[in-house]
Amino acid sequence: MNYQNGIEAILTANSRIPVVTFSSSNQVASVLEQLEAASVSCIEITLRTEAAWEAIEHCKKIAKSAFKVGVGTLVNAEQVERCKSLGVDFMVSPGSSASLIDAMQKSGIAYLPGVMTPTEIISALEKDCGFLKLFPCNLAGGITALKTYASVFPQIKFCPTGGLTAENHEEVLALKNVISVGGSWLCEVK
Ligand code: 3PG
Repeated sequence: MNYQNGIEAILTANSRIPVVTFSSSNQVASVLEQLEAASVSCIEITLRTEAAWEAIEHCKKIAKSAFKVGVGTLVNAEQVERCKSLGVDFMVSPGSSASLIDAMQKSGIAYLPGVMTPTEIISALEKDCGFLKLFPCNLAGGITALKTYASVFPQIKFCPTGGLTAENHEEVLALKNVISVGGSWLCEVK
């Protein structure tokens, strides 16, 4: 099944997703160089700064065609439309609502809705979403929460982000209900 417009293939191919916040599009090229040197083939650019959209556009222009350019921090349908017009490869939201999931599904772009609680997971399941971002993973309970969710929601695969580091992410990645992990530790924005 092509769930969430094909997000599974992107998460399977990219077990570590750099979450990057740009304050200028001039920073994009050096980040792409770092990621290429580290054999990382994707990026999630957050919508937390004024420069974000320009950085996304620039990244789509200069990244190799196989490189997956994602947009994070999505909170509304208007942003989904903008992702569509820029041809982004995947979309990530920190939380989720039924209408946001509907807009992401309709866009045809692969997407990963965010959840933190059991109620949010059930709402996402009602929308046929089985691949979810657990955010903020550290506040949700980290490994303890993921192990509990594995027994309560065995049908869900998570991409946890928030508070993961070079030191602790391997242990999270090894959990059976974790398909990939994300975070800002994966590259330096200069
Ligand atoms: C995200 O948006 O996924 C997180 O902010 C990443 O969290 P981190 O900065 O703790 O890695």
